Amino acid sequence: MIDGSGMLEFLGRRRSIRKFTEQPIDKSMLRRLIEAAVTAPSSTNRQPWLFGVITSRELKKKVVELVRARTEEMKSIIQKSHHAEEFESYGDFFYEPLQAAAAIIIPQYRVYPDLIAELVESGGGNSDLFSTAEAMQAELCSTSAAIMTLLIQAHAEGLGACWMAGPMVARKEIHQLLKISPPWQMVGAISLGYPTECVEAPRRKPLEKVVRWYEERDP
Ligand SMILES: Cc1cc2nc3c(=O)[nH]c(=O)nc-3n(C[C@H](O)[C@H](O)[C@H](O)COP(=O)(O)O)c2cc1C
Repeated sequence: MIDGSGMLEFLGRRRSIRKFTEQPIDKSMLRRLIEAAVTAPSSTNRQPWLFGVITSRELKKKVVELVRARTEEMKSIIQKSHHAEEFESYGDFFYEPLQAAAAIIIPQYRVYPDLIAELVESGGGNSDLFSTAEAMQAELCSTSAAIMTLLIQAHAEGLGACWMAGPMVARKEIHQLLKISPPWQMVGAISLGYPTECVEAPRRKPLEKVVRWYEERDP
């Protein structure tokens, strides 16, 4: 059993990895990633998630092409601004990890009616004033928790992974390609594979900047 400081050290070593070998990932390992993801907590245990696991070369290529095309479109717009150079290298992060990946996972989530809001309404109340799940996008939060758990499992398996918002630029096209339809929608994409790069840890904000303690004062 891993102890607290061992776990912290393990988490601290997880990196977003964007370059991979061509080695395929065993299906049993991919299954374990999803098994790990679904251990995550979810609002009213609705488990509002779904995972599209792409290992087909042809399909991967199609996803990359869709993202690349939309990124190029975006680049040509940004080129007209004085931020063109900034985006030049950043834009590559939109699809290059997908291109190198042995597998791509497209996490998806769906919204459910807010149970508590319905109860308030059935009592004649204004549900906006008592919104809970909706007020915090609970299904998106739950699915994000599942994705993070998947990333930790990938790290434990010796895989590299990168959860990416970039592919959202082609979400309409990817939804169409993978037959993702309402109420489901994708939450970025995860590039996966055996790492070929060692990445230095990006700086974290110091704890003092991200914690507010609300403690009992000494008498
Ligand atoms: C919601 C989300 C979206 C991200 N989108 C991208 C992306 O589009 N492309 C990319 O290369 N990395 C992406 N990243 C990875 C971040 O750049 C990375 O997590 C951050 O720089 C910290 O590095 P670390 O994960 O190695 O600690 C994303 C991460 C998150 C959580």
